[in-house]
Amino acid sequence: MAGAIRKAVFPAAGLGTRFLPATKAQPKEMLVLVDKPVIQYGVEEAVQSGVDNIIIVTGRGKNAIEDHFDVAVELESYLEQRGKTAQLEEIRKISRLIHVSYVRQGEPLGLGHAVLVTKQMVGQEPFAVILGDDVIDATPPALKQMIDVFERLDGPVLAVERVSADDVSSYGVVAIQEGADLGKGVHRITDMVEKPRREEAPSNLAIIGRYILTPDIFPALEATASDRTGEIQLTNGLKRLLRERPIYACEIEGVRHDTGNKLGFLKALVYFALQRPDLADPFRRYLETLNLKVGAP
Ligand code: UTP
Repeated sequence: MAGAIRKAVFPAAGLGTRFLPATKAQPKEMLVLVDKPVIQYGVEEAVQSGVDNIIIVTGRGKNAIEDHFDVAVELESYLEQRGKTAQLEEIRKISRLIHVSYVRQGEPLGLGHAVLVTKQMVGQEPFAVILGDDVIDATPPALKQMIDVFERLDGPVLAVERVSADDVSSYGVVAIQEGADLGKGVHRITDMVEKPRREEAPSNLAIIGRYILTPDIFPALEATASDRTGEIQLTNGLKRLLRERPIYACEIEGVRHDTGNKLGFLKALVYFALQRPDLADPFRRYLETLNLKVGAP
């Protein structure tokens, strides 16, 4: 029987170069969508999926992430004294709900390497990896959808999404076994290619930022060479593991925003603002006052 998923790894040691200069002194995981940093959306998804042991992989200049999830004694007593109970509850909720540990990735040597540095903390149990950049609005939460597949099939599960042919070269792309009846949107993976050219992509199923992995990924990553950019790619480690065991792909039902690029971030900001009961109406009215016609001066 598949073991329970208790731990979620959040790789957050990347340099965030696409958001410079904002990310010069501030981690991209702390960029704010309405009033919550991006990484908190992923942490809340983990908690709502029953996973409350959070392992964050950090690098240089990421102290703000640790402060964010820490208990803020002075701020709490300030809010308490002024009777600001709603805000007090809001900031208490997140630090009380989770247990967070941090591990340092000395140099940003790739996503595969970031996962590898969690080896001791994860130990001999299956675990989740969440890339906070991908913020997914889904019911049940994306990670919960994947845990259900993991419990049923007892093997690693990668979240995938169908993308346009123009976009495949930005992702790891999977080849799947056709005709296998594993349930709606669930596939057995037969191969993976990291950032293929459009004409070389084996499908349009792109790996997105959620993984359920088993501890045998660690020796597979240790045996994986760096690519020509000097990074150890998680996709290459998974490709090696695929020689030894079945790995599954799960199409997530929900809306995904890639907040790691500027356009995706802006779309996510508008999307989540329009979902907020306190902001939706005035914000929509404001948007309607803008002249959004193509080519408008
Ligand atoms: P990205 O490919 O988005 O890279 O990493 P990045 O450095 O964060 O951002 P850009 O491309 O320079 O703008 C995907 C995820 O893997 C983590 C990142 O923090 C992000 O969550 N990562 C990447 C690491 O933790 N370590 C690495 O060495 C590389």
